[in-house]
Parts: sequence; structure tokens; C-alpha cells
Amino acid sequence: MRRILFLVSLQLLILIGCTDSPEITVDMSPLGGRDIYALHCQVCHGADGRGISGNCPPFRGSSRIGAQEREGLLEVVLLGRSGVVERDGHSYLGIMPAWRNKLTDGQIADVMNFIQSSSWGGEWGRFDASEIAAVRQMIVGKPHFSE
Ligand code: HEC
Repeated sequence: MRRILFLVSLQLLILIGCTDSPEITVDMSPLGGRDIYALHCQVCHGADGRGISGNCPPFRGSSRIGAQEREGLLEVVLLGRSGVVERDGHSYLGIMPAWRNKLTDGQIADVMNFIQSSSWGGEWGRFDASEIAAVRQMIVGKPHFSE
């Protein structure tokens, strides 16, 4: 909240400072799932969900993408993972950062729903913030695999 107030005051200052250039505006809209993905996930998971050969497993066509894996998937997103992972006959050595302290429950739900709506996460079904909050509770005290 403080951050939002700070950003709003900053915007007002910018607007006041720019009275002779009224066309300058600052986009204050909250980030949606697509933006969060582009900003935080795309570098490894790819704009098309295909991952990086040898480093990051694909979402697209993954055998792990099934409804029964929801908790496990969310745990990976919240705590991160590292080391060698085998998927569909290929091995990947990479680091998945922990997002527990970087994204809110709503932001994680939004980004997971973006992945889902891009049809790479085919059978995940929709996520909502309360589901993320529940998994967050289950893993209180568990260490991050990475920071
Ligand atoms: C620095 C690279 C990197 C970034 C950035 C990254 N990931 Fe990952 N992600 C990985 C790797 C590597 C794995 C595989 C980890 C494993 O299972 O050992 C992974 C696994 C996952 C999985 C589990 C997939 C599976 O098949 O088990 C999900 C879901 C996921 N990431 C979502 C995200 C989301 C959402 C973001 C952005 C908020 C993100 N990742 C950002 C590298 C990254």
C-alpha cells in the first residue's frame, strides 16, 4: 500500500513537473498475467512455452501438466527448484527461482492462468488466489531451493 501511495505521489510530482507537456502519462495499470510472464518467466520458459533445451523443461507438451500435479507445480513456483530434472526422456539442468517473496497470491494465480490460457498448460484448470494462499501455508518453514 505504501509503495502504491509512493508511486501515486511520484506520478503527481511528474505530472505537476510536466505541466507544459500534458501528453506525457505514466501507465499505472496493474500488471496482468501476460505482463508478469513476459517480465519474470519468459526468459527461461520462452515466449512460446517451449523452455530452453538442456536448461528449462517445456510447458508445451509436458507429461507433468495434469490436474493431479497442481500442488506440486505451485510448490515449485513458490519455493523454486534446482538441479537435474528428467522430463519425457530429456534431462534439464537449470534453476527455477523461488517466487514466494516476490509475487503475491493473486499475481501467481494470474501468471499461471496466463500460461494455462496460452494452452501450454492444457489441463491445469484455473487457479485462484486462495489456492495459492493454501499451498503457501502448507510450505511455511520449508527452505527455498534458490533465491
Ligand atoms: C531462471 C530461469 C527460470 C525463470 C526466470 C522461471 N523459471 Fe520456472 N522453471 C525453471 C526450471 C529450470 C524449471 C524446472 C525445475 C525442476 O523441476 O527442477 C522450472 C519449472 C517451473 C514449473 C514446473 C514445471 C514442471 O514441469 O514441473 C512451473 C509451473 C514454473 N517453472 C513456472 C514459472 C513461472 C510462473 C515463472 C515466472 C513467475 C518462472 N517459472 C520463472 C526455470 C525458470
